[in-house]
Amino acid sequence: MKRLIAPSILAADFNNLGNAIQIINESEADFVHCDVMDGLFVPNISFGIPVVKQVSKIAKKPLDVHLMIVNPDKYIVPFKEAGASVITVHYETCDHLHRTIGHIKEQGIKASVCLNPHTPVSVLEDIIIELDMVLLMSVNPGFGGQKFIENTYKKVVDLRAMIDNKNPDCLIEVDGGVNYETGKSLFDKGANVLVAGSFVFGSNNPKETIAKLKSV
Ligand code: DX5
Ligand code: ZN
Repeated sequence: MKRLIAPSILAADFNNLGNAIQIINESEADFVHCDVMDGLFVPNISFGIPVVKQVSKIAKKPLDVHLMIVNPDKYIVPFKEAGASVITVHYETCDHLHRTIGHIKEQGIKASVCLNPHTPVSVLEDIIIELDMVLLMSVNPGFGGQKFIENTYKKVVDLRAMIDNKNPDCLIEVDGGVNYETGKSLFDKGANVLVAGSFVFGSNNPKETIAKLKSV
């Protein structure tokens, strides 16, 4: 099973963002995870289209853009044009999720849906065949550096069963509180992509941390 790493630049030093992208470029990371927050869906504001566009100019890994925003439909084309390879929208922000997923795929990029910690994986039963990836939040979205929510393990197991049954190519990504310990259990239970922010950029050697996380 695929084991991939998506470092989140939310935890990078924004005064040296280019340096953080360089580290990711030279590492075994598979994606650059970009956390976009609007201060409405989540209680924090991070960065948006202009920053993603600059990141894409120097990033050698595909951009995995996590939209924690209301009305994501409005921003699919701008983020695609800014360089996104994968766009993740939150289930909780989409009244017409099937249509939104269609819009993302029409742009020729990968479509992913994110579930908050309180949203059961069962809500994906009738959309899973359309998805390239599902992102499970293992913290409440809005901030880096939070404690991992243990119930996420059960959600990975449930989602793995659904995916194996209905759409085996779909990836399972997990976001929040990832470290060597939680990361190993997540991979062992069937996750494919681990997002890690503070654990990577708060470490002395981010490149080594990425490599070790990949092979826990
Ligand atoms: C939280 C973001 C995460 C965050 C993870 O809202 O979606 O991607 O950066 O941060 P850590 O790895 O520090 O928990
Ligand atoms: Zn994220």
